[in-house]
Amino acid sequence: MSKNVPLTKEDFKNSLSLIVGNNNIIFADDDDNYRLQPYLEESRGQCIGKAFAVVFPSTTDEVAKVVSACHHHKVPIVPQGGNTGRCLGAQSDDENAVIVHLKHLNRIRDFDAQNMTVTVESGVILQYLQEYVAERGLFFPLSLGSEGSCHIGGNLATNAGGVNVLRYGNTRDLTLGIEAVTANGTVLNELHGLRKNNTGYDLKNLLIGSEGTLGIITAATFKLSPPETNNEHAFIAVSSVTDAVQCLQRLQSRFVGKVSTFELMPRRAMQFLAQHSDVRCPIGDDHPWYIWYKLADANPDAPLLDDNLAFLETLMEDGVVVDATVSQNESMKQLFWQIRETLVEVQKFEGASVKFDVAVPISAIPMLIERGNAAIEAVCPGIRPYPFGHLGDGNIHYNLTRPKHLSDTQFLDDYKEQLVKTLHDIVDDLGGTFSAEHGVGSLKIKDMQTYKDPVALDLMRRVKQAFDPFNLMNPGKVIPPLA
Ligand code: MLT
Ligand code: ZN
Repeated sequence: MSKNVPLTKEDFKNSLSLIVGNNNIIFADDDDNYRLQPYLEESRGQCIGKAFAVVFPSTTDEVAKVVSACHHHKVPIVPQGGNTGRCLGAQSDDENAVIVHLKHLNRIRDFDAQNMTVTVESGVILQYLQEYVAERGLFFPLSLGSEGSCHIGGNLATNAGGVNVLRYGNTRDLTLGIEAVTANGTVLNELHGLRKNNTGYDLKNLLIGSEGTLGIITAATFKLSPPETNNEHAFIAVSSVTDAVQCLQRLQSRFVGKVSTFELMPRRAMQFLAQHSDVRCPIGDDHPWYIWYKLADANPDAPLLDDNLAFLETLMEDGVVVDATVSQNESMKQLFWQIRETLVEVQKFEGASVKFDVAVPISAIPMLIERGNAAIEAVCPGIRPYPFGHLGDGNIHYNLTRPKHLSDTQFLDDYKEQLVKTLHDIVDDLGGTFSAEHGVGSLKIKDMQTYKDPVALDLMRRVKQAFDPFNLMNPGKVIPPLA
């Protein structure tokens, strides 16, 4: 808060209360019941932040008035949704900041079956939206592990990816229009369902992925797809990442436009699942690599199962696939998804880990794993690599579990920084990115400084200056301070 604010602190508190009502605000200095705590905690409980208050506006107009009050008092704003992010993007670390929580902006404003669009507010939970659309005979393809609690606003702010990107794209690719509150409290209305609109700069796409640093997205119009009623899933094993890439290539040539998911999992994930969960691998659990893939055809009569079985037979004859099963019913499909989802959660039972969200060209993934594993073992002998994720998008969560002989603190204090640098250097060398789908937040600010093209960074700073001249919108996120 600027120097003059202590004089007007009560005024500021009153103006916020007047906008959202006393029941929709928690001030840190009145908070005897620790009600603020959940909004200050990092999503995995790893750290706790600070804030002046959290406010819960119910309409775009209220968001605009809150932002306007903050602008007037030069108070920083941290927008927050489901708080499931991985890069501290929704974390407030400033005791003077106001967290603007969007959970009450949870209306579906419009569903247009003929235009195949839906218009929703930012506080809608992703899974709710998927179900709402499915009940009306269409499909919203965004799908990720945290879909039961993450908000659409956070998905937009981070341009979330997930397991269906291969066929449908990231959140950005699903979005036709947005409404957002800008840094001075005005409302940008670009909320339309147009598939074509060449009227100058694409502000929507600047705001998507900006992690609340340019404004607060309050609603969006998404395009929808026909339901994937005719779908087939397979769970297969391969001997190497090179074979996994070959399998993807052949799958995409055989089933053009029909592959929506292609997820890679290591043997270690099956071991961790066996030790720490009830979820079991449906095929032999000692193969080097596993893949869960999904095919979907809009034509309900297409013989997808037979075609998939024939495809797998050929790949097994060629030695590309070494073991496989296909889904015979809904519960097997659920099992494949559950394996993929649970392998993320069980990692914590094996101690501290360093997590990654890198992407390289798909053709470079075998090289990434080969070079990566050798380099990290040299840095930290005994380390347990746990690379998994969206191979179909070139996006690997190259997580690293600590060696058994080190304590969590020894591992994190002595090795984390060097491990991050080692892997990110390799990724950079292979033409990749250190953040594929999780964003930058404050966690990856140093990487932005190191790896982002300097001209791009300079332009980003100027865009930020144009949108938010007082640096009040989620300061300290995405854009590194000038050295
Ligand atoms: C996933 O793909 O499972 C997530 O992006 C990984 C994570 O939440 O760390
Ligand atoms: Zn992911």
